[in-house]
Amino acid sequence: MEPPRGGSTGWVHEHPQGGPPAHPIARHRRGIQSWEEILDLELTDRAALVSGGAQGIGEAIVRTLAAEGAHVVLVDRDQASGAALCEELATAGCRVDLVVADLDDASRCRTVVEEALAHTGRLDALVNNAGVNDRVGLETGSPDDFVASLRRNLVHYYALVHHALPALKDARGAVVNVASKVAVTGQGGTSGYAAAKGGVLALTREWAVELLPWGIRVNAVVPAEVMTPLYRRLLSTSDEPEATLDHIVRRIPLGKRMTTTEEISAAVAFLLSPRAGHITGQHLYVDGGYVHLDRALT
Ligand SMILES: NC(=O)c1ccc[n+]([C@@H]2O[C@H](COP(=O)([O-])OP(=O)(O)OC[C@H]3O[C@@H](n4cnc5c(N)ncnc54)[C@H](O)[C@@H]3O)[C@@H](O)[C@H]2O)c1
Repeated sequence: MEPPRGGSTGWVHEHPQGGPPAHPIARHRRGIQSWEEILDLELTDRAALVSGGAQGIGEAIVRTLAAEGAHVVLVDRDQASGAALCEELATAGCRVDLVVADLDDASRCRTVVEEALAHTGRLDALVNNAGVNDRVGLETGSPDDFVASLRRNLVHYYALVHHALPALKDARGAVVNVASKVAVTGQGGTSGYAAAKGGVLALTREWAVELLPWGIRVNAVVPAEVMTPLYRRLLSTSDEPEATLDHIVRRIPLGKRMTTTEEISAAVAFLLSPRAGHITGQHLYVDGGYVHLDRALT
């Protein structure tokens, strides 16, 4: 069997007939009725809360979890995008609800969790995703700007898990934190964001330990370069956006392309699912080898 070429977005999408590929494991397993059965993440009727779920990576996470049969509550300050997404997914038969909130105000997180629970009655999964690379630099920022950046990118991660903990304990739930490669590579000129995302990676380990007694798993997904509204905004501040993008993409080892939002959301859904039942405290880099492979060779 030929291995898929670089740039693959997944077996199922690539199969010429749109059906299951002749994967050797699938061929040799007995009792499997369908390819879907193998892929079933067992998320049907689970309840999930996704922060920053109206656009970008969060939107993809909402779509994936909803497609897997979960009841999803997305929290976002963008009322219009959030409502449009909920309406679209409800029309498709999914259960998705919106809580409108600005998470920069961490004191709002208690009522966010209460409102989510009013919709779902339980909480099996929490995805901390909302954030922004706000470029509060060492020289360009100030101590107050730095603290504000932590509020935008870190404090609400803690506050949501803190307030959701009783419900997560009841459900033996799972948490996924969306971090960033900036936490481990640096970027320059973005101290607040780097510190926040470093904190996200540290808290992933810390919470994985603290929550062991309740069987609550905590993992992080670490993206590098993903085309989203946020990324487009950052790119537009460059003098030559197209040349800048080309420069970045040429250095992404696998396939010389950006990671898709769906590739991030698939990893998140897997880590939330019982299929990842013995995975906790991990930092999963979904980045085409951007951080760990030797880019001098690509
Ligand atoms: N796009 C990338 O290349 C990339 C790379 C590494 C990490 N990340 C991380 O992924 C996450 C999502 O990024 P994205 O690119 O999808 O961003 P995005 O701006 O495209 O989408 C973020 C969504 O979250 C919402 N949001 C942000 N802050 C909020 C707040 N304080 N309160 C309520 N809603 C809020 C926005 O309204 C928006 O709907 C962020 O944590 C980001 O740091 C992104």
